[in-house]
Parts: sequence; structure tokens; C-alpha cells
Amino acid sequence: MCPSIDGRIVVRDWNLNNATREYERTAATFGADAWIIGRVSMEPYAGRARVPVRKNGQPIAREDFIAPHDADSYAIAIDPSGKLTWQAGDIDGEHVITILTEDVSDDYLVFLQSKGVSYLFGGRARIDLGKVLRKLRAHFGIRKLLLEGGGKINGSFLAANLIDELSILVAPVADGSVGRPTLFDADRRTPPRHLKLLSMETRAGGIVWLRYKVRR
Ligand SMILES: NC(=O)c1ccc[n+]([C@@H]2O[C@H](COP(=O)([O-])OP(=O)(O)OC[C@H]3O[C@@H](n4cnc5c(N)ncnc54)[C@H](OP(=O)(O)O)[C@@H]3O)[C@@H](O)[C@H]2O)c1
Repeated sequence: MCPSIDGRIVVRDWNLNNATREYERTAATFGADAWIIGRVSMEPYAGRARVPVRKNGQPIAREDFIAPHDADSYAIAIDPSGKLTWQAGDIDGEHVITILTEDVSDDYLVFLQSKGVSYLFGGRARIDLGKVLRKLRAHFGIRKLLLEGGGKINGSFLAANLIDELSILVAPVADGSVGRPTLFDADRRTPPRHLKLLSMETRAGGIVWLRYKVRR
């Protein structure tokens, strides 16, 4: 993640030349199998398409769907009610997996299948993140997963105590905006997690790369 010094994460008004390049360069050093982001952060990557309304369609079973693919890395979204209207089943060659609840419509499931998007059910009405991680490992062999924001998905992983390590590129920006997403925006009371500093490094443009292990 790339927060300002006050933990805000909406980078678009910061006009920082190096932030995106440093973000991608740093992410690549982890050799991860996949990255996962929240529905809001995924919207620009998913694009826009129309979800056809079926007439007299058969009911669709709430079973996980693995679309044919030959990718060995994955782009994952948490989209509990099926709002993302994917244009394709890959993002720059990485296979798309979306995490849903069983509340989504049958039409939406047919739409995902037609686009070649894999989907996993994370719960009936709420997403169980532990279950999601187990399914990602079982179905796709995903062992190392980069959690790449925004604040709500990060907050829910923090609350579930499912983060092993933090990699933070602190941008030389004091943002000061109130009510905008921050590094962790948990929707339920979360005990503070203590961290052990692993390393720090100065990067181009005054960015500081901090790595922490989450103490358990
Ligand atoms: N600076 C950085 O490094 C960085 C990185 C990534 C993103 N960002 C920025 O972060 C901002 C978006 O952050 P955000 O906090 O508003 O949104 P977000 O975390 O990207 O997405 C939040 C949405 O994802 C779904 N979701 C996430 N976790 C869930 C869970 N555990 N259970 C059920 N649903 C879950 C929900 O979708 P529904 O609303 O559909 O229920 C939720 O409202 C954007 O401005 C983006 O550019 C910054």
C-alpha cells in the first residue's frame, strides 16, 4: 500500500510521479501468486459491460465456478453483491477471480460465466475471509497473496487477523482530508495489532518503504 504520512490512500490528487512505478516495482519483489482488492478499487480495472437479463432462464446453482484459463497468476476482487461488470476474464493476462455471496442474481452468474470470470462463494450473505483463503488455495494453489487495498478490504483482513506482513510505501504527502479511505477502515471494532519492523529503505522521490511483520 502507498499511504500519505497521515494514512490516507486516495493518490489521484497527489501528483506524485514515482508512486505508481515504485508501487508496481515493490509488488513485483514479492513473487506473489495473486493480488486481491476491494470492489471499489477494482472498478477501474473491471471496466463496464452490460449484464443481460435472461428470459425464462434456469436457476443457477450456488457452486464455485472455475473458468477455463492458462494463467498462473490471478487478479481477485471481493464483490459481495456482484456490482462489477467485467469486460473480460483477465487483467493484463492475469486470470480474474471474483468473490461473491450467494445473494447475487442468477443473471449475474451467467454473465460472469460468459466473460470467463471465475467465481467463488465466500458465504451466504456475508464473506468469510478465512474460507475464501482456503478456497483460493484449494482451487488455484494460491499461497502468497498481496492485499492491495483499499481501506475497507484491508480493514476487514486486519479485523480477521489474516495479515502476515505489511509492506508500506509512505508517500511524502500530508493529505489532511477527512472521511476519505485510509490504510485500514475496519467496519467492526478491531483490537490494535502490534507490528515488528523488518526493514526500512528510502526510495525515489522521498518515498520510504517500510516492512513489518504482524505480531501474533
Ligand atoms: N494508495 C494505495 O496504495 C491504494 C491502493 C488501493 C486502493 N486505493 C484507493 O482506495 C480507495 C478505495 O478504498 P475503499 O476502502 O473505499 O474501497 P475497497 O476496499 O477498494 O472496496 C470496498 C468494497 O469492497 C467490498 N468488500 C471489501 N472487503 C469486504 C469484505 N470483507 N466483505 C464484504 N465486502 C467486502 C465491499 O463492496 P460493496 O460496497 O459492493 O459491498 C466494500 O464496500 C480508492 O480511492 C483507491 O484508489 C489506494
